[in-house]
Amino acid sequence: MSHEDFPTDEPAVVTCGLPYANGDLHIGHLRTYVGGDVFSRALEKLGQQTAFVCGSDMHGTPIAVQSIQEGVDPEEFALEYHEQYQETFPKFAVEFDNYGHTHEETNRELTHEIVRTLEEKGYVYEKEIKVAWDPAEDQPLPDRYVEGTCPYCGAKARGDECDEGCGRHLEPGEIEDPVSTITGNPAEYRDRTHKFFEVSELSEYLTDFLDRLEGTANARNQPRQWIEDGLQDWCITRDLDWGFDYPEIDGDDESSAEDLVLYVWVDAPIEYIASTKQYTERVGADTYDWEEAWKADGEIVHIIGRDIIQHHTIFWPAMLHVAEYDEPRAVMASGFMTLNGKGFSTSRNRAVWAREYLDEGFHEDLLRYYLATNGGFQQDVDFSWSKFRERVNGELVGTVGNFLYRSLLFAHRNFDGTPDASVSAEVEDRIDEAVDAYREAINDYSIRKAGQAAVELAAFGNEYIQRNEPWKLTDEDPDQAAQVIRDCVQVAKALAILLEPLTPGKAAALWDQLGEDGSVHETTVEDVHAAPPETFDEPAELFEKIEEDRVEQLNEKLEARVEEATEDGDDTETESDDTGGDQSGDMDLEPLVDDRISFEDFEGIDMRVGRIETAEPIEDSDKLVRLEVDIGVETRQVVAGIKQLHDIEELPGTKVILLANMEQAELFGVESNGMILAAGEEADLLTTHEDAPAGTRIQ
Ligand code: 2FM
Ligand code: ZN
Repeated sequence: MSHEDFPTDEPAVVTCGLPYANGDLHIGHLRTYVGGDVFSRALEKLGQQTAFVCGSDMHGTPIAVQSIQEGVDPEEFALEYHEQYQETFPKFAVEFDNYGHTHEETNRELTHEIVRTLEEKGYVYEKEIKVAWDPAEDQPLPDRYVEGTCPYCGAKARGDECDEGCGRHLEPGEIEDPVSTITGNPAEYRDRTHKFFEVSELSEYLTDFLDRLEGTANARNQPRQWIEDGLQDWCITRDLDWGFDYPEIDGDDESSAEDLVLYVWVDAPIEYIASTKQYTERVGADTYDWEEAWKADGEIVHIIGRDIIQHHTIFWPAMLHVAEYDEPRAVMASGFMTLNGKGFSTSRNRAVWAREYLDEGFHEDLLRYYLATNGGFQQDVDFSWSKFRERVNGELVGTVGNFLYRSLLFAHRNFDGTPDASVSAEVEDRIDEAVDAYREAINDYSIRKAGQAAVELAAFGNEYIQRNEPWKLTDEDPDQAAQVIRDCVQVAKALAILLEPLTPGKAAALWDQLGEDGSVHETTVEDVHAAPPETFDEPAELFEKIEEDRVEQLNEKLEARVEEATEDGDDTETESDDTGGDQSGDMDLEPLVDDRISFEDFEGIDMRVGRIETAEPIEDSDKLVRLEVDIGVETRQVVAGIKQLHDIEELPGTKVILLANMEQAELFGVESNGMILAAGEEADLLTTHEDAPAGTRIQ
């Protein structure tokens, strides 16, 4: 079943993964929130009714452990960060319709109601399990209280998550060689009775759900493997003082859950619903009805970091399904972020902090633009001040700003605003093309492509004004000059509308420059052809160039800080950011190979531009896909290990690079005659960016 395209008649709810309220925000964290904000604004631009909600994640051991380390009460500790986040997000124009937190009453009520339903429907049972225990302190060690070795991949892992290895969720008792993170004492395992949610019973539902799920390919494909490997039931209680109590269950007086709290991952996603409900309570159900969104076919879109795909595509839809709520329509899972090619490190002060970015005097929209359009959403993104400068100077100053300033200044000086002429068919069509590309991009969950549609329209504007040279026409052919500038003013207006989701502050400034009343935020793509006011004032430049020496200063500052933190001896990774910031750790880049090859050797490597003609999964293999690739001179059959990482049906038509003289091999009985090139864990397929035809040799 495929979903109807946006905009639909149902209300949409866009959520961002709730940040644990336990540390300062850096720009790596902001990627998901900026992505969510851009996406929800873009849906509104298309005319979709949308609520954008989130909240702070206040429970669980991420809060408990850190509040102990700081000697503060967990609620007080988490509330402080909650307030900080509430203030910080709007400074980056991340404007949630409601930003709550998980420790609120609305969330407690909904959580208890949902858990009771799981119980009533017979999906919860009790089981005695081994839990890690600190014998010296006589204290249980749930989740982040304990570290050890992942039983699946052997990496160092913390209690509930193999965050540096295979990324799996770990159930209590699974971690090997457990050690307390609080005292360093080796832990032992003790028997305790806990509550389990029977996720294993829902494999069939979840398989169908994944067939319907939209969003990024990683979120749709990875969970299939977990289902194929067999789902485990999910322990939903913890031996902890901090969190929501397990609800009382009618007729169950014997429950051993009395002294247990709910696992943080039960009440955290329920805050998505609670936060939407709070929004309705504030604005009224006539404006936005949370029940329509969550119980009557709403368009639910979750925007998360890729480390929490399992929670959002297995556990969460399983709970929603049993509790009879709507299922998510889409999950967009972002890649991680690195800083100058290495992981962000909070403990080493190796980060660009959110507050620091603003203190440096940069406009929030510049970072929003960078984060939202630098690579596809599921790709890893690297931040460096010099790349930031390059993109700002090239795209925002050079393409967008340049077009707007030169055309609006010309319009103001020569026509006092919008010339009295009608827009040419060429420009009307070009604006429509941009809107179509934008709509398609958002339906494809690609905020990068939506950004591209806008910037390409600005590039067209530059080319158009250059080609028509209105400055030569003012005397020779004033009507023609008016026509050209009328066109440019309309392109500027369309740009204000299309850019608003990405750069809301700058789009509002442009709206003012055009003399428009009202807010561009509330304007939709329906208005791209409406004429701007007849007169407007002299415009100012919207974007400013970043100078090279500024970048040098910023790099020096960052290096000095990292060095200082390292000299202070604080060079161990003690914490991990949870929203796509730190998970890559210090990315282990492979050392360069010392042995050089000669030019002749290189000439012996025959790499060609190819075009995938057909793609089909190889049965019985988890990873392999059979491809037919057109390389101009012939079509090659190639086997590639990209099954989980790409949408197979979307591969035909993709341009790739093929190593044509790779020795032939046979994989799962299928002959592979060449190798397609890819980079990184997500098998990012190498390609060319212009029009080199299939068969072109790489040199
Ligand atoms: O991993 C995390 O950072 C969690 N705080 C995310 C929770 S998202 C949700 F489901 F609530
Ligand atoms: Zn692992």
